[in-house]
Amino acid sequence: MCGIVGYIGEQDSKEILLRGLEKLEYRGYDSAGIAVLNENGVHVFKEKGRIADLREVVNPDVEASVGIGHTRWATHGAPSRVNAHPHQSASGRFTLVHNGVIENYAILKREYLQDVELKSDTDTEVIVQLVEKFVNSGLDVEEAFRQTLMLLKGSYAIALIDSENKDVIYVAKNKSPLLVGLGDGFNVVASDAMAMLQVTNQYVELMDKEMVMVTKNSVTIKKLDGNIIDRDPYTAELDASDIEKGTYPHYMLKEIDEQPLVMRRIIQKYQDENGHLTIDPEIIEAMNEADRIYIIACGTSYHAGLVGKQFIEKWAKIPVEVHVASEFSYNMPLLSERPLFIYISQSGETADSRAVLVQTKEMGYKALTITNVPGSTLSREADYTLLLHAGPEIAVASTKAYTAQIAVLAILATVTAKAKGIELDFDLVKELGIIANVMEMLCDAKEEMEKIAREYLATTRNCFFIGRAVDFYVCLEGALKLKEISYIQAEGFAGGELKHGTIALIEEGTPVIALATQEHVNLSIRGNVKEVVARGANPCIISMKGLETEEDRYVIPAVHPMLTPLVSVVPLQLIAYYAALHRGCDVDKPRNLAKSVTVE
Ligand code: M6R
Repeated sequence: MCGIVGYIGEQDSKEILLRGLEKLEYRGYDSAGIAVLNENGVHVFKEKGRIADLREVVNPDVEASVGIGHTRWATHGAPSRVNAHPHQSASGRFTLVHNGVIENYAILKREYLQDVELKSDTDTEVIVQLVEKFVNSGLDVEEAFRQTLMLLKGSYAIALIDSENKDVIYVAKNKSPLLVGLGDGFNVVASDAMAMLQVTNQYVELMDKEMVMVTKNSVTIKKLDGNIIDRDPYTAELDASDIEKGTYPHYMLKEIDEQPLVMRRIIQKYQDENGHLTIDPEIIEAMNEADRIYIIACGTSYHAGLVGKQFIEKWAKIPVEVHVASEFSYNMPLLSERPLFIYISQSGETADSRAVLVQTKEMGYKALTITNVPGSTLSREADYTLLLHAGPEIAVASTKAYTAQIAVLAILATVTAKAKGIELDFDLVKELGIIANVMEMLCDAKEEMEKIAREYLATTRNCFFIGRAVDFYVCLEGALKLKEISYIQAEGFAGGELKHGTIALIEEGTPVIALATQEHVNLSIRGNVKEVVARGANPCIISMKGLETEEDRYVIPAVHPMLTPLVSVVPLQLIAYYAALHRGCDVDKPRNLAKSVTVE
């Protein structure tokens, strides 16, 4: 949440910062700002709203080759110009952007800043005021910055500029992501390599509790104890076209359409030279040594975990529990003797999941992260990583990462089963190939999905998704997709659970989307549909070829019964997309949300 950028070099920094922030808008988009520094001092431009709104207030005549920028997802203080970053010290000498949460900001304010009048409601402002306070007490800026960092509790990625010295950007990180990008005669700072791909693909990773002095020709990384760290850069393997919308109106639609390609890429990445699926033997050993697997994740990734549990239990015969990270942290169940933790996270940065990872590592348990982002925090801090190979997912609503997570979990389960000598009566490579083809057909059914969205969801205030067995898990995901981008109150329910309370909500015309892809519960879910219809619901049944009846609205071509979530979710993603579109919502950047949730 929140994205930060910085540039120090020879060129005018404004456009580089603004373009960088546009690439980071997925991290937060309720207000934004930049500060640039030239011989006349520091110039701060901020605005409530999007980067497009910020562009309107940036003075094109100010030229400066040093600058920092921020796009915000509000935690402390409402989205407003005053709470937007950058924030400045009392004299205006220091200017700072911050991503994260300073948990002890109120204490710091009380103990160190009683005589300073803070201008914003943010936790961030204390940082910049503290730096000035320490400088005023006689410390040089680097030492004042270090002393300030030592006092901070919580998470931060920070960039700070000093109007009395245009030659350096001070940078620091703890728990929030931050990279330094290297150029020829310039250097940059960014929350994500994507932001600065326009100028460099060479990056240096920063670790927690490090501070960095970035000049146009040098990058000096220090531990907070003053020790200098030497670290080699890496090349960001991102293609600029991966992060562009191309001819698509929205990233979400592009990412839905990319799913067949991602399926094929995953098959290829996880195949050995003989065409057999393969996974690092150490991971398989850890799986087979475990007496129970704990999957920890949030949101869509949690929903993928629920599906993955089925694969691991049914194919690899290892018991699995799936937990929402934010709950697990504070309400840990009784653990088995030899647990293995699997963290599923598209971004690899989700603070709730990371909090559990830190806890379980301290307890001495092994961790595997399944993520889309190599080098992300959860990947670095786990013992093992499996990559999704889905390419950057930019729309806030996760689509291709969900199906990629399920596919990787299926591969993990089958390879584990094979290592145990368990015979499976299907070839996953072949089945995933079929899935990719069916996904393509479903992506071609946009017109039909648009019609369903218009017919059922254009004006409704709520919508229910019902399913049984694995369809129930897909219903949870379908409902999350719909609510987060269209703001229709949508809930997923197990079909059999309706009569225990929820059915009271059914009124004349309430849309109920039912999934019927599972033979063993086909009759029961159809019974549940009858129950809601008898109470006035407007049903939309999406079924699987071979199980269909005349009343079904859409029939998905048949795939392996365990893998149906990979395809049944696609119509739900498209329906959510078109519903949001019809209701005039901002599909890629829904209100109150951000893509990467780096606060607990
Ligand atoms: O990056 P992660 O997979 O850890 O993110 C977890 C959730 O925040 C995420 O899946 C969220 O629920 C999606 N935006 C929903 O579409």
